[in-house]
Amino acid sequence: MQGTPSVVGVSGSLRDGSYTRAALTHALAAAEDAGASAELIDLREYDLPLFDPDVDDEDAGDAVELKRKVREADGVLLGSPVYHGSYSSAFRNFHDYCSFDEYEDTVVGLLVVAGGGTIASTLDHMRVTVRGVHGWVLPHQVGIRNAYQQFESVDEPLATLSDGTPVDRQFVDDDLRERTEKLGRKLVENLRTGPHPPASEWTAGEDSAADD
Ligand SMILES: Cc1cc2nc3c(=O)[nH]c(=O)nc-3n(C[C@H](O)[C@H](O)[C@H](O)COP(=O)(O)O)c2cc1C
Repeated sequence: MQGTPSVVGVSGSLRDGSYTRAALTHALAAAEDAGASAELIDLREYDLPLFDPDVDDEDAGDAVELKRKVREADGVLLGSPVYHGSYSSAFRNFHDYCSFDEYEDTVVGLLVVAGGGTIASTLDHMRVTVRGVHGWVLPHQVGIRNAYQQFESVDEPLATLSDGTPVDRQFVDDDLRERTEKLGRKLVENLRTGPHPPASEWTAGEDSAADD
């Protein structure tokens, strides 16, 4: 991919002090550091009625705008809180509006945040349902356990995304911060090279070229 890839991050938590949103801002900032443009889609700011197949998107609040943003993005970071061992209803409702048109040829990174220790089932459920709309889901994923202990406030934003969103909470744990930033970096890396290393980097290719 030439030029600047675009990445949107969708937060599936409607909670004011959401840790999912906080973690996504770090992944999006890392995507920007890797050369992408990034935008946080905070579902609190969109009017998205409960998905009803009998209602046209034009009559469903901000559905048309939201779908356009996802469709036009090269990469999507999806974040959800863990609710009852799965994703939130806000994430699912957003996701039900989307289909192949939004996700075909789109690289997707997954991030979940749990109050306790349950992360694997939510990540698995998100992976399956995104594959259902043909998103290319990265193997690297982020699950944040014990969320209440993982973030602290900062006096000044650590960074500001190009859409104006501040990164205004920091990770307590450096490994978790690094894992989250890696999600943003990996997303951009895959947008640039495709899901596999480019043919020019294949070892066998180099060997046979050397033999010529
Ligand atoms: C309805 C509901 C169900 C929840 N279920 C779980 C759960 O199954 N496992 C868990 O570890 N935490 C569970 N939690 C805690 C949330 O994962 C935790 O509060 C998380 O920080 C929410 O994400 P947010 O900060 O982005 O809103 C639940 C919270 C709610 C409100």
